[in-house]
Amino acid sequence: MKTRIIKINSNNPQQSTIAKCTTILKNGGIVAFPTETVYGLGADGLNPKAIKKIFKVKNRPFDNPLIFHIANKQDIEILAKHIPEITQKLIKKFWPGPLTLILKKSKTIPQIATGKQDTVALRMPSNKIALSLIKSLGHPIVAPSANLFGKPSPTMAKHVFDDLNGKIDIIIDGGQTRIGIESTVLDLTSKIPTILRPGGISLSELKKILKNVEYHPILLGKKSRIAPKSPGMKYKHYSPNAKVILVKGSTKNSQQKIESLIQKLLLENKSIGLINYKSIQKNPLIISKFIGYEKDLIAKNIYKIFREFDKENADIIIVREINNSNLGFAIMNRLQKAASEII
Ligand code: TXA
Ligand code: MG
Repeated sequence: MKTRIIKINSNNPQQSTIAKCTTILKNGGIVAFPTETVYGLGADGLNPKAIKKIFKVKNRPFDNPLIFHIANKQDIEILAKHIPEITQKLIKKFWPGPLTLILKKSKTIPQIATGKQDTVALRMPSNKIALSLIKSLGHPIVAPSANLFGKPSPTMAKHVFDDLNGKIDIIIDGGQTRIGIESTVLDLTSKIPTILRPGGISLSELKKILKNVEYHPILLGKKSRIAPKSPGMKYKHYSPNAKVILVKGSTKNSQQKIESLIQKLLLENKSIGLINYKSIQKNPLIISKFIGYEKDLIAKNIYKIFREFDKENADIIIVREINNSNLGFAIMNRLQKAASEII
């Protein structure tokens, strides 16, 4: 199979392109498309055969359920049941946008999409291409991130191509995604609404709407007797091929750690990639990249930079911890999951 990349106008998606991709979805095929968070690997959410293909293409374990992407807020009534009152307020404030809600699933949901869970993940993306494709199909689109299982999520069409060339029909190229890390997954089936995956919407934003909301203990590094509710929590994730070393401590302290680490790795003949937040550390012996200081920029570019280092054959990527308030918590979650060593 030849994988085609098709460019589209992200503000005003060409309907001819949307129609072409809708036909592929209607025929049980798979289409990679942009959302505001990361690229998704989409199939018709009501077609079990098509959904099965997604797991195969990604090498994703069948016990890890998929998110249903919808274009009409009212569709939650069809896809979920026992919807708590608070849901309406959340939807009003955060949809369309990077918030995924876990609710009890209705009979409409194909078993294969949700593994053994009696729940379903729902999200209404804000990206116009995504919305237009869902509307045109007339069904929800199930879509995990469009990377190979375990790799960083794709934030550009070429990332999807690098992982899945030859395995899918088409990739819609809507440019680099705006947010760059995945949506926040919020479980509304527990007594207290619980964040299972930090993402584009922060805890403090949620607190403006919810009196009670908390992180799942696993996200706080606590050993939990509560089983990981989100199967995604138990897998190593987001890893580039290079080994990621996360450096903790104050700016001065971590700078010293980084300098001695670089000396040691150079003696071992390692190819080193360094991520810089402020000024770029110039050193001809290492691959030094500037990501930016604002959290928005770090989130937007982190997976892209991981993938660039892989292309440049870095053995090691060194990255410093950041302040973990707001979006910083989600970024630190990704860095911790990617890291094989924390010093
Ligand atoms: O931003 C995003 O959410 C992107 C874009 C494409 O929408 N999608 C995405 O999907 O990141 P995926 O499949 O890579 O991650 C979905 C996460 C996984 O950790 C999965 O375990 C969790 O959501 N999840 C899905 N359904 C669930 C459910 N019923 N209960 C608990 N967790 C669920
Ligand atoms: Mg994923």
